[in-house]
Amino acid sequence: MKSSTAIAHPNIALIKYWGKSSTVGNIPAMSSISITLDVMESKTKISFPSDLNEDTWILNGSKQASLERIKMPFNQLIKMSNVSDSCLIESDNNFPTAAGLASSASGMASLVMALSHALELELSLQQIIELAMLGSGSAPRSLFPGFVSLDVTGAKITCSTIAESNQWPLEVIVCITSSDQKNTSSRAGMGISKKTSPLYDNWVGNHQKDIQIALTAIQSRNFEQLGTIVIDNCLKMHQVMKTSQPSIDYWNETTHAVVQRIKTLKAQGWDIFYTIDAGPQVKIICKPDLTEEVAVEINKIPGIESIVKCGLGQGARLIDE
Ligand code: PMV
Repeated sequence: MKSSTAIAHPNIALIKYWGKSSTVGNIPAMSSISITLDVMESKTKISFPSDLNEDTWILNGSKQASLERIKMPFNQLIKMSNVSDSCLIESDNNFPTAAGLASSASGMASLVMALSHALELELSLQQIIELAMLGSGSAPRSLFPGFVSLDVTGAKITCSTIAESNQWPLEVIVCITSSDQKNTSSRAGMGISKKTSPLYDNWVGNHQKDIQIALTAIQSRNFEQLGTIVIDNCLKMHQVMKTSQPSIDYWNETTHAVVQRIKTLKAQGWDIFYTIDAGPQVKIICKPDLTEEVAVEINKIPGIESIVKCGLGQGARLIDE
């Protein structure tokens, strides 16, 4: 048992998952494709101070009341190790937490990397993928760099990079419209949608077609084709959310304004597309030569809190501290 620190970046789903097939193992009901970002990161440090008398989680400098949100991967790893000393988990995000910016994915990926190393467990990559998934369905994607496919066939999960960051170096302009924490967690929202949205079965049933189109677009570096399917898939997911009972709507006024502005820019010939997750932030994807100009345009929209310009990043990794 030793101290260990890992960092991981959030990933943004291009083709989303929304819904679980099983809460045991936290298995998504469908496959997904994402890009891992750089710049934004979660860092998790694990240590076992001798004067600590209970497992303690400090997130962004605040001691958490319990380990509830990380307990599934945490307990499982501790069980595998037979370690009984109290563990200190210190996690920091350099971007807003639980606001639809995939902090749970990067947080869980860094936690699993750091904790398995600190406990000196010799785990296979597949075990790490499954442990990360226990924490968040999108977390395995943050273990990998670039364009990542998370393939779900029944209970069988595979996750891997389909194109490295430098093979198609797109950029992402993350438009933060509110850094408030969301009211409905993804996990709770997915449960509500599965039970109540009349669109849910169709969403799950037709999802693989979107995956295939996106895979082809990525393999052939077809920006136009990728953008069209990404926007379509995003809007379908938000329709499933909105038609749930109670209705789930993560967008705010500024989210709508940004989407309108993107539509106008696209109509003028700008090569950009966008996606939105379980939160009000808009992620705009473009080629590197357009990033600055897009950021200037979006900054003019009233209500924009901040903009983060990202490239595609590395997978989760241990660091020396
Ligand atoms: O499993 P979670 O809590 O990371 O949920 C992710 C949900 C979305 O971001 C909306 C979609 C996705 O595939 O990332």
